[in-house]
Amino acid sequence: MIQKIELPYRLDALEPYYNAETLNIHYNTLYKGYVENYNKIQEQLKNAREKNDFENIKCLEKNLSFQGSGVILHELFFTNMKPQSRYEMGERLYSQINKDFGSFNAFKNQFNEASKTVEASRMGTFSMGTKI
Ligand SMILES: [Fe+2]
Repeated sequence: MIQKIELPYRLDALEPYYNAETLNIHYNTLYKGYVENYNKIQEQLKNAREKNDFENIKCLEKNLSFQGSGVILHELFFTNMKPQSRYEMGERLYSQINKDFGSFNAFKNQFNEASKTVEASRMGTFSMGTKI
């Protein structure tokens, strides 16, 4: 069983960029639901293993991936957002974004549009790697 992580700041800590009501919905309703559903599916998978009955394995694994990604994306969001952050993008990242996307605005537009299409959570992540 997984548990909800503690929110590392107060619900109103991200204002004015993210208001307390919206953060409350994401933390206490949506994220809570992903955690609970993930645990329910894990229990169903345990039952399937005990009965050696995998008739619904495709559906269970798909649902586990969906709920699990909801958990991971919310935890990334909660732990990466910071009240009164003064983070500024480094020159290396900025240069790489310009090289790969043509401009920072082109990157931002693509990232925003791609995130809107993510089923349910509409959360996108951006990471930098050396292989792809
Ligand atoms: Fe959410």
